[in-house]
Amino acid sequence: MKVVAATGNPGKLREFERIFAPFGITVVSQKEVCPGLEIEENGNTFAENAFLKADGVFRAAGKAAIADDSGLCVDALGGRPGVYSARYGGEGLGYAEKINMLLEELRDVPREKRTARFVAHICYIDQNGRQMDVEESCEGWIGYAPKGEHGFGFDPVFMVGDRSFSELDDAEKDAISHRGKALRALVELLRKNDEADR
Ligand code: IMP
Repeated sequence: MKVVAATGNPGKLREFERIFAPFGITVVSQKEVCPGLEIEENGNTFAENAFLKADGVFRAAGKAAIADDSGLCVDALGGRPGVYSARYGGEGLGYAEKINMLLEELRDVPREKRTARFVAHICYIDQNGRQMDVEESCEGWIGYAPKGEHGFGFDPVFMVGDRSFSELDDAEKDAISHRGKALRALVELLRKNDEADR
């Protein structure tokens, strides 16, 4: 099975590819199938934005499409940056700067109040236009300094226990991450729907 990933984020794309590979699902990037397509993410929830992206690519490509809308929700910041994680500090700001800004916002926040979670909402639209949604999260806390080399985005400061997501190898991150859990839940849903259709 082949799906078009409605994302231009290379970090997400790599995770889609490696999490889906064991299930025989091949991921093609939106850039390859519909180059130049721009979709405005003007929803207020992860679910709304995931739908906007999946629907935009499904309509443009006429093929099964999958979108992930995800973000980091920090309790001490009332759930921010949440849906606006990619735009935290402004569109043009790099991740090293976004991380510094986050650490600065949390400078006086003690360990027990640094709790946070990553949330991923996946919207899948099959070649017949049937929509399926799953949402998963991964609990953690925001560290005091970036650690580790792997991953992307806020991974260097997202701590699970005493290690950051960036200190985990790919398989370790996928086993517990919001995206890993959500993509496996989607595969399960696809299987169930497939059986029900037979
Ligand atoms: P989206 O493309 O609008 O869904 O933006 C997702 C944003 O959330 C990313 O740009 C990152 O800032 C953050 N994010 C989501 N998932 C992860 C992850 O697995 N690691 C690090 N940052 C993530």
